[in-house]
Amino acid sequence: MKIEILKTAREVARRGAALFEGAAAQNPAIVVALPTGRTPIDMYAILAARRREGAFDLARATAFNLDEVLLPRKQPQTFFQFMTRHAWDPLGLSPERRFIPDGETKDPEAECRRYEQALAKAGGLDLAILGIGADGHIAYNLPGQAGPRTHVVSLDAATIATLGGHLKGPVDAITMGVETIRSAKRIVLLATGAQKAEALRRMRDEPPTEAWPCTLFQSHPDLTVIADRAAASQL
Ligand code: PGA
Repeated sequence: MKIEILKTAREVARRGAALFEGAAAQNPAIVVALPTGRTPIDMYAILAARRREGAFDLARATAFNLDEVLLPRKQPQTFFQFMTRHAWDPLGLSPERRFIPDGETKDPEAECRRYEQALAKAGGLDLAILGIGADGHIAYNLPGQAGPRTHVVSLDAATIATLGGHLKGPVDAITMGVETIRSAKRIVLLATGAQKAEALRRMRDEPPTEAWPCTLFQSHPDLTVIADRAAASQL
Protein backbone atom coordinates (compact mmCIF):
# COMPACT_ATOMS: atom_id res chain seq x y z
CA MET A 1 0.00 0.00 0.00
CA LYS A 2 1.08 3.55 -0.71
CA ILE A 3 0.78 6.04 2.12
CA GLU A 4 0.66 9.78 1.56
CA ILE A 5 1.01 11.88 4.68
CA LEU A 6 -0.28 15.45 4.49
CA LYS A 7 -0.31 18.14 7.13
CA THR A 8 -4.00 18.74 7.68
CA ALA A 9 -7.42 17.15 7.22
CA ARG A 10 -8.17 19.88 4.69
CA GLU A 11 -5.22 18.76 2.56
CA VAL A 12 -6.44 15.16 2.78
CA ALA A 13 -9.84 16.30 1.50
CA ARG A 14 -8.21 18.24 -1.37
CA ARG A 15 -6.02 15.29 -2.35
CA GLY A 16 -8.96 12.87 -2.23
CA ALA A 17 -11.01 15.24 -4.38
CA ALA A 18 -8.16 15.60 -6.88
CA LEU A 19 -7.76 11.83 -7.21
CA PHE A 20 -11.50 11.37 -7.71
CA GLU A 21 -11.64 14.19 -10.25
CA GLY A 22 -8.68 12.77 -12.15
CA ALA A 23 -10.22 9.30 -12.27
CA ALA A 24 -13.55 10.69 -13.47
CA ALA A 25 -11.82 12.77 -16.16
CA GLN A 26 -10.05 9.67 -17.45
CA ASN A 27 -13.22 7.56 -17.35
CA PRO A 28 -16.47 9.57 -17.44
CA ALA A 29 -18.44 6.32 -17.04
CA ILE A 30 -16.56 5.48 -13.84
CA VAL A 31 -18.18 3.14 -11.31
CA VAL A 32 -17.21 4.28 -7.84
CA ALA A 33 -17.93 3.16 -4.29
CA LEU A 34 -18.53 6.11 -1.99
CA PRO A 35 -18.36 6.47 1.80
CA THR A 36 -20.38 8.32 4.39
CA GLY A 37 -18.94 9.67 7.65
CA ARG A 38 -17.36 12.89 8.81
CA THR A 39 -14.10 12.33 6.93
CA PRO A 40 -15.37 12.63 3.32
CA ILE A 41 -17.62 15.66 3.90
CA ASP A 42 -14.92 18.18 2.98
CA MET A 43 -13.90 16.14 -0.05
CA TYR A 44 -17.49 16.17 -1.32
CA ALA A 45 -17.73 19.92 -0.69
CA ILE A 46 -14.55 20.54 -2.70
CA LEU A 47 -15.83 18.33 -5.52
CA ALA A 48 -19.17 20.16 -5.49
CA ALA A 49 -17.37 23.49 -5.86
CA ARG A 50 -15.21 22.12 -8.70
CA ARG A 51 -18.33 20.87 -10.43
CA ARG A 52 -19.96 24.29 -10.18
CA GLU A 53 -16.85 25.66 -11.93
CA GLY A 54 -17.45 23.11 -14.70
CA ALA A 55 -14.30 21.13 -13.87
CA PHE A 56 -15.93 17.74 -14.35
CA ASP A 57 -19.19 16.01 -15.14
CA LEU A 58 -20.43 12.89 -13.38
CA ALA A 59 -23.60 12.56 -15.47
CA ARG A 60 -22.39 9.20 -16.82
CA ALA A 61 -20.78 7.99 -13.60
CA THR A 62 -22.31 5.36 -11.33
CA ALA A 63 -22.04 5.51 -7.54
CA PHE A 64 -22.53 2.61 -5.16
CA ASN A 65 -22.73 3.36 -1.48
CA LEU A 66 -20.49 1.27 0.72
CA ASP A 67 -23.24 0.69 3.27
CA GLU A 68 -26.63 1.71 4.66
CA VAL A 69 -28.36 1.44 8.00
CA LEU A 70 -31.67 -0.41 8.19
CA LEU A 71 -33.87 2.52 9.19
CA PRO A 72 -36.75 4.37 7.53
CA ARG A 73 -35.28 6.37 4.68
CA LYS A 74 -36.66 9.68 5.92
CA GLN A 75 -34.64 9.46 9.15
CA PRO A 76 -31.72 11.88 9.22
CA GLN A 77 -29.28 9.13 10.26
CA THR A 78 -29.70 7.17 7.03
CA PHE A 79 -26.89 7.23 4.53
CA PHE A 80 -29.52 7.88 1.88
CA GLN A 81 -30.08 11.28 3.51
CA PHE A 82 -26.36 11.88 3.98
CA MET A 83 -25.51 11.04 0.37
CA THR A 84 -28.38 13.08 -1.07
CA ARG A 85 -27.20 16.15 0.85
CA HIS A 86 -23.42 15.82 0.67
CA ALA A 87 -22.70 13.88 -2.50
CA TRP A 88 -25.36 12.79 -4.96
CA ASP A 89 -27.08 16.14 -5.55
CA PRO A 90 -24.02 18.40 -5.16
CA LEU A 91 -21.89 16.21 -7.44
CA GLY A 92 -24.60 15.84 -10.07
CA LEU A 93 -24.91 12.07 -10.06
CA SER A 94 -27.81 10.86 -12.19
CA PRO A 95 -30.71 9.62 -10.03
CA GLU A 96 -30.80 6.34 -11.95
CA ARG A 97 -27.11 5.72 -11.27
CA ARG A 98 -27.18 6.26 -7.49
CA PHE A 99 -27.12 2.91 -5.75
CA ILE A 100 -27.50 2.29 -2.04
CA PRO A 101 -28.83 -0.76 -0.18
CA ASP A 102 -32.53 -0.37 0.58
CA GLY A 103 -32.65 0.38 4.31
CA GLU A 104 -36.38 -0.27 4.36
CA THR A 105 -36.19 -3.77 2.91
CA LYS A 106 -38.28 -6.51 4.51
CA ASP A 107 -35.73 -9.09 3.34
CA PRO A 108 -32.17 -7.87 4.04
CA GLU A 109 -30.53 -11.07 2.78
CA ALA A 110 -32.29 -10.76 -0.58
CA GLU A 111 -31.35 -7.08 -0.69
CA CYS A 112 -27.68 -8.01 -0.25
CA ARG A 113 -27.87 -10.36 -3.22
CA ARG A 114 -29.69 -7.74 -5.28
CA TYR A 115 -26.97 -5.20 -4.48
CA GLU A 116 -24.18 -7.53 -5.58
CA GLN A 117 -26.10 -8.20 -8.81
CA ALA A 118 -26.51 -4.48 -9.48
CA LEU A 119 -22.78 -3.99 -8.99
CA ALA A 120 -21.95 -6.83 -11.36
CA LYS A 121 -24.41 -5.45 -13.94
CA ALA A 122 -22.70 -2.05 -13.74
CA GLY A 123 -19.42 -3.76 -14.63
CA GLY A 124 -17.75 -3.75 -11.21
CA LEU A 125 -15.98 -1.02 -9.28
CA ASP A 126 -13.29 1.08 -10.91
CA LEU A 127 -12.57 2.99 -7.72
CA ALA A 128 -13.51 2.68 -4.04
CA ILE A 129 -13.11 5.67 -1.75
CA LEU A 130 -13.04 4.57 1.87
CA GLY A 131 -12.92 5.89 5.40
CA ILE A 132 -11.70 3.85 8.34
CA GLY A 133 -13.14 3.42 11.82
CA ALA A 134 -11.06 3.87 14.95
CA ASP A 135 -11.65 0.14 15.53
CA GLY A 136 -10.38 -0.65 12.03
CA HIS A 137 -13.76 -1.13 10.38
CA ILE A 138 -14.02 -0.54 6.65
CA ALA A 139 -17.51 0.28 5.41
CA TYR A 140 -19.47 -1.70 8.03
CA ASN A 141 -17.12 -4.65 8.03
CA LEU A 142 -16.87 -4.38 11.80
CA PRO A 143 -14.42 -6.34 13.95
CA GLY A 144 -15.68 -9.91 13.98
CA GLN A 145 -18.38 -9.07 11.40
CA ALA A 146 -16.34 -8.82 8.24
CA GLY A 147 -17.66 -10.91 5.37
CA PRO A 148 -16.60 -11.47 1.79
CA ARG A 149 -19.68 -10.12 0.00
CA THR A 150 -22.50 -7.68 0.78
CA HIS A 151 -24.00 -8.79 4.09
CA VAL A 152 -26.03 -7.78 7.14
CA VAL A 153 -24.32 -6.66 10.36
CA SER A 154 -25.51 -5.57 13.82
CA LEU A 155 -24.03 -2.27 14.85
CA ASP A 156 -22.45 -2.07 18.29
CA ALA A 157 -23.33 0.75 20.68
CA ALA A 158 -20.23 2.81 19.83
CA THR A 159 -21.02 2.64 16.12
CA ILE A 160 -24.69 3.47 16.69
CA ALA A 161 -23.57 6.52 18.68
CA THR A 162 -21.63 7.82 15.64
CA LEU A 163 -24.94 8.01 13.73
CA GLY A 164 -26.17 10.71 16.13
CA GLY A 165 -29.72 11.52 17.10
CA HIS A 166 -30.03 9.22 20.13
CA LEU A 167 -31.20 6.12 18.29
CA LYS A 168 -32.82 3.57 20.56
CA GLY A 169 -32.43 -0.16 20.36
CA PRO A 170 -30.48 -2.38 18.02
CA VAL A 171 -29.63 -1.09 14.54
CA ASP A 172 -28.62 -3.39 11.71
CA ALA A 173 -26.93 -2.36 8.50
CA ILE A 174 -26.06 -3.71 5.08
CA THR A 175 -22.47 -3.35 3.99
CA MET A 176 -20.40 -4.25 0.99
CA GLY A 177 -18.08 -7.09 1.95
CA VAL A 178 -14.32 -7.19 2.00
CA GLU A 179 -14.06 -8.97 -1.35
CA THR A 180 -16.68 -6.69 -2.88
CA ILE A 181 -14.54 -3.69 -1.98
CA ARG A 182 -11.27 -5.42 -2.79
CA SER A 183 -12.59 -6.13 -6.29
CA ALA A 184 -12.25 -2.39 -7.03
CA LYS A 185 -9.40 -1.74 -9.43
CA ARG A 186 -8.23 1.09 -7.24
CA ILE A 187 -8.79 1.95 -3.59
CA VAL A 188 -8.25 5.34 -1.93
CA LEU A 189 -8.62 5.46 1.85
CA LEU A 190 -8.91 8.76 3.71
CA ALA A 191 -7.91 8.96 7.38
CA THR A 192 -7.81 12.06 9.54
CA GLY A 193 -7.40 12.62 13.26
CA ALA A 194 -5.44 10.94 16.04
CA GLN A 195 -8.28 8.52 16.81
CA LYS A 196 -7.46 6.73 13.53
CA ALA A 197 -3.73 6.34 14.28
CA GLU A 198 -3.86 2.88 15.84
CA ALA A 199 -6.04 1.48 13.05
CA LEU A 200 -3.67 2.83 10.38
CA ARG A 201 -0.63 1.38 12.16
CA ARG A 202 -2.29 -2.03 12.42
CA MET A 203 -3.48 -1.81 8.82
CA ARG A 204 0.08 -1.37 7.64
CA ASP A 205 1.96 -3.57 10.11
CA GLU A 206 -0.20 -6.45 11.32
CA PRO A 207 -0.91 -9.76 9.63
CA PRO A 208 -4.45 -9.89 8.24
CA THR A 209 -6.98 -10.49 11.02
CA GLU A 210 -10.77 -10.21 11.19
CA ALA A 211 -10.32 -8.44 14.53
CA TRP A 212 -9.00 -5.43 12.55
CA PRO A 213 -10.83 -5.54 9.20
CA CYS A 214 -8.58 -2.82 7.77
CA THR A 215 -5.73 -5.38 7.70
CA LEU A 216 -7.71 -7.42 5.15
CA PHE A 217 -7.06 -4.71 2.55
CA GLN A 218 -3.29 -4.29 2.86
CA SER A 219 -2.52 -6.70 0.00
CA HIS A 220 -4.73 -4.88 -2.53
CA PRO A 221 -2.58 -4.14 -5.61
CA ASP A 222 -3.59 -0.48 -5.93
CA LEU A 223 -4.32 0.95 -2.49
CA THR A 224 -3.46 4.52 -1.54
CA VAL A 225 -3.92 5.75 2.02
CA ILE A 226 -4.12 9.52 2.41
CA ALA A 227 -3.60 10.51 6.02
CA ASP A 228 -3.10 13.70 7.92
CA ARG A 229 -0.26 13.95 10.40
CA ALA A 230 -2.45 13.04 13.36
CA ALA A 231 -3.76 9.84 11.75
CA ALA A 232 -0.21 8.94 10.65
CA SER A 233 1.31 9.60 14.07
CA GLN A 234 1.92 5.91 14.81
CA LEU A 235 3.40 5.08 11.42
P1 PGA B 1 -15.78 8.93 10.14
O1 PGA B 1 -16.18 7.40 9.94
O2 PGA B 1 -15.36 9.43 8.82
O3 PGA B 1 -17.02 9.57 10.63
O4 PGA B 1 -14.66 8.94 11.14
C1 PGA B 1 -15.26 6.54 9.34
C2 PGA B 1 -15.89 5.21 9.12
O5 PGA B 1 -16.66 4.76 9.99
O6 PGA B 1 -15.60 4.58 8.09
